[in-house]
Amino acid sequence: MAKILAFINQKGGVGKTTTCCGVASAFRKKKLSTLLVDVDPQGNLTYITNADTGNAGIADIFTKKGNIANLIQKTQQGDIISANPSLAADGLLRGANKEFRLKEALLPVSDAYDYILIDCPPSLGILSINALTAANGVIVPVQADILSLQALGQFSATFSAVQTHTNKELSFLGLVITRYNARAIINQEIAKLLRQTAGKLGTKVYDTYIRENISVKEAQGAREDIFSHSPRSNAAADFKSLADEIVKDTSRS
Ligand SMILES: Nc1ncnc2c1ncn2[C@@H]1O[C@H](COP(=O)(O)OP(=O)(O)OP(=O)(O)O)[C@@H](O)[C@H]1O
Ligand SMILES: [Mg+2]
Repeated sequence: MAKILAFINQKGGVGKTTTCCGVASAFRKKKLSTLLVDVDPQGNLTYITNADTGNAGIADIFTKKGNIANLIQKTQQGDIISANPSLAADGLLRGANKEFRLKEALLPVSDAYDYILIDCPPSLGILSINALTAANGVIVPVQADILSLQALGQFSATFSAVQTHTNKELSFLGLVITRYNARAIINQEIAKLLRQTAGKLGTKVYDTYIRENISVKEAQGAREDIFSHSPRSNAAADFKSLADEIVKDTSRS
């Protein structure tokens, strides 16, 4: 069975998609078979992996029309189930057990992968609840700024509700500090506060900080894997190091 990890934070623009994609690239380099799932109607992960946004995508399993195996696209950045435009439709998910649709849909392909990584939208609505219900572990990308700290309280309430109602086994693996600038004193100070907050929430901050690095934007612009585009960049080193930490954590469970 694949380990299913949700990259989530209801705060926008904190690096969820970038971290999800970078970790997937590092996993593939380690020869771990990995499936990316884009459940964000913005489709940013779909775009940067150069996947087809035309027709079939994750919305099809929410409306119970699609066979999941037919939705998997093979791209140069690995296997992905894209976000298709109808993912943004109001009322896409209806009826009893609507929180469990993604979990049930992923079951048939779960044995084919070591990891399934889900990129969530910047909200705590039903799409994110589906991701949290399907996942074994949660990784929360955060920037070292005060608004990220504020957002964590709201996220932790949702996390607890999911643990109570739809996924008792869900584990809060940790926070990942993104776009870090070691020369900014404020970044260092907030990183310290994030460690304290993580402790209070019963989780941790990963030792690897993802540094601010122009190669991230360049690789995304070229729609290439960071390890192919800029193998010697800080970003490639950071995503490799973070992936190593995640593998260590998730091999224990
Ligand atoms: N380490 C980094 N170095 C430089 N730029 C970065 C880095 N990480 C993310 N970015 C940039 O920050 C912006 C936001 O990143 P990203 O799209 O990954 O965030 P997000 O949390 O997924 O956003 P959303 O909430 O809209 O889904 C993007 O333009 C991305 O290129
Ligand atoms: Mg995103």
